[in-house]
Amino acid sequence: MYQKRGYHWGVVFVNWRIQMSAACPHLSLCNKSDVSVGKAIKIEKNGLTLAVFNIAGEYYVTDDLCTHGPGSLSEGDITDDVVECDFHNGSFNIKTGEPVAAPCMIPLKTYAASIQNDEICIDLP
Ligand code: FES
Repeated sequence: MYQKRGYHWGVVFVNWRIQMSAACPHLSLCNKSDVSVGKAIKIEKNGLTLAVFNIAGEYYVTDDLCTHGPGSLSEGDITDDVVECDFHNGSFNIKTGEPVAAPCMIPLKTYAASIQNDEICIDLP
C-alpha cells in the first residue's frame, strides 16, 4: 500500500517536471525591431520595470530605475556600453551593471537576455 502510494506520487512528480520543462521559461519583453541600435526602451511587465538596450546589435536588459534615485535609465544618454542617468549624471556599464561614475555607487541589476523568435526575453525571476 505504501509503495503503491509512493509510486503514484512519483508519477505525479515526474509529470510535473515534464510540464515545467516544456513550458516557456522566459519572459518576452519586446521585439528586436522595437529597440534601435544605441537606444533603449522602458518595459513594464510582470511587476518589473526594465530598460532594454541595443548596443551594436546586442541586447541587454537592466532595471530601469537608477540605483541612486528616481532616474529612468532608458531615458539616459548611451555612449558605447555606458548609460548616463539624466537625473544626476551618474553612469553604469550596461553589460555588467557596475557603476562607472558618481554619484552612482550601487550596481544595477542586470538580466541575461536571449532572443526567441525575434523577441527579446529574460529568464523569469
Ligand atoms: S538618480 Fe540617477 S544619478 Fe541620481
